[in-house]
Amino acid sequence: MGKVYVFDHPLIQHKVTKMRKATTPVKEFRDLAKEVSLLMGFEATRDLPLKEIEIETPICKTKANVLDGEDIAIIPILRAGLGFVDGMLELVPTAKVGHIGLYRDPESHVPVEYYCKLPSDLDKRVVFILDPMLATGGSAVAAVDFIKQRGAKDIRFLCLIAAPEGIKALSEAHPDIDIYIAAKDDSLNEKAYIVPGLGDAGDRLFGTK
Ligand code: PRP
Ligand code: URA
Repeated sequence: MGKVYVFDHPLIQHKVTKMRKATTPVKEFRDLAKEVSLLMGFEATRDLPLKEIEIETPICKTKANVLDGEDIAIIPILRAGLGFVDGMLELVPTAKVGHIGLYRDPESHVPVEYYCKLPSDLDKRVVFILDPMLATGGSAVAAVDFIKQRGAKDIRFLCLIAAPEGIKALSEAHPDIDIYIAAKDDSLNEKAYIVPGLGDAGDRLFGTK
């Protein structure tokens, strides 16, 4: 079974609370999404492999650590995942970026695909899927399906708020991937929105309704 990591760092928790508040305006919500993704990305990359190389400081030769391959791909699920891209790219500027377009059918809540453009060498990369919300888990499961079909083997799912239903669905469908979240919420309402959640993440990020 994949692991679920809940990031309880005070800075992350503080920023998520601001994002939850209905009165937080679009610009602030967007800024917070970038800040939180940077903090979460920092934690989620903690186990990337290092290798030792020899370098020369102004004082002497020494051995020091560098990343053993910087082959990372980040894949936001459109739309709301876009809010996490800038923060992740600040951490890993050389990452390749793929996009998966999915929206939930308003009646059935089943994800509908409308776009998919992914790097061709996913099998050689550590892949971070970005989406602030894991509700029923339908979108996340579909996104991982696409990404696995393209050969990816090391996949991590980074999200802000998850419902227990979404965590269960994703872990059962894809037990090999790790899930990183900032908060596990209580439940889903009758429209499959996370409770208490933060509302519609795409609308909050882009100012639509
Ligand atoms: C939101 C969110 C996830 C999905 C989660 O996107 O960004 O992708 O819902 O719900 P699920 O776990 O039940 O699948 P939405 O479908 O609202 O599309 P949008 O980002 O274009 O608004
Ligand atoms: N998608 C969202 O944007 N918010 C939720 O609460 C559930 C799905």
